[in-house]
Amino acid sequence: MGEPEEAIALKIIIIGMIVIFLLSLSVIMFFILYQRRLLAQQQKHQKIESDYQKELLKTSIASQEEERSRIAKELHDDVGAMLTTTKLYFGQITPELPPDELENIAHKTSSFLDDMIHSIRSISQDLRPVVLEKLGLIEAVESLRQTINDSGKIKVSVKNNTTKTIVKSKELNLYRIIQELITNTLKHADASAIQIKLKNEEDSLIIVYKDNGKGLQQKNLLHKKGLGLKNIESRLSILSGNIYFMKEDSGMKVKIVIPV
Ligand SMILES: Nc1ncnc2c1ncn2[C@@H]1O[C@H](COP(=O)(O)OP(=O)(O)OP(=O)(O)O)[C@@H](O)[C@H]1O
Ligand SMILES: [Mg+2]
Repeated sequence: MGEPEEAIALKIIIIGMIVIFLLSLSVIMFFILYQRRLLAQQQKHQKIESDYQKELLKTSIASQEEERSRIAKELHDDVGAMLTTTKLYFGQITPELPPDELENIAHKTSSFLDDMIHSIRSISQDLRPVVLEKLGLIEAVESLRQTINDSGKIKVSVKNNTTKTIVKSKELNLYRIIQELITNTLKHADASAIQIKLKNEEDSLIIVYKDNGKGLQQKNLLHKKGLGLKNIESRLSILSGNIYFMKEDSGMKVKIVIPV
C-alpha cells in the first residue's frame, strides 16, 4: 500500500506552495532589482543634466566676464587713449600761443572728440544694437548683412520666410547666436559666402545657417576650445531651443530650432 491520498495531496499542496512562494519571491526580487536599476539610471541622468547645467552656468559667467573685459579694454584703449591725447593738446593752450597754432589744436581736438563720439556710439551699439531694439531681429540681421557685405570680404545673403513675429525678449539671444556664427565663419572658415535662412515650421522658428568654408571638424565640436559654441548652447538653453550640426560635403551648416 502506498501513502494515503491525503498525504500525497498535502505533499502536492506543500510543493505547490513552495513553488508559488519561490515564484513570488523571484518576481519581488526582480521588481526590486529593476526599480534599483531604474533609480540608478535616473540618478545618472540627473547627474549628467546637472553637470551640463553647471557647465552652461560656468560658460555664461565666463562669457559675461569676457564681455566686460572686452568693453573695459575698448573703453581704455579707444576712449581713454583719445581723452589722454586731447588733454595733452589742451595743456598746450596758453595765452601766448599764436592764433594759427591755436587753430591747429582746436582742429585736432575737435577731430579727436569726433572719433570718441564714434567709438562710444559703436561700443553702445555693440552692447545693445539699436536696430534690434527699434526694428526687430530680421532688420538687425539685415543690417549685419549690409555691414559685412560692405567690407567686401565675404558675401552674406539673408532669406526671411518667417510668418510669425518673434517675441521681443528672445531677439537679443537669437541675434547674438547669429553674430557668433558669422564671427566664426569670418575667423575660422576661409569662406566666400554665408547663407542665412529664417522660417517658421509648426510652432517653431527655424534658422538655417550655412557657409562655404572649410567646415567644422568633429573634434572641434567635441572639445570646444572657445567660448563661442558653448555660449550658443547656453543661449539656446535659455530659449529652450536646439542646434543641429548638419553633415555637409563642404562648408558648415547648422539648423537652429526655437519654439515660438
Ligand atoms: N564656420 C566654421 N568653419 C570652420 N570651423 C569652425 C567654424 N565655426 C567654428 N569652427 C571651429 O570650432 C571651434 C570652436 O568655435 P568657438 O566659437 O566655440 O570658439 P572660437 O571661435 O575659437 O573662440 P571664441 O568664440 O571664444 O572667440 C573653432 O575654434 C574653430 O576651429
Ligand atoms: Mg567663436
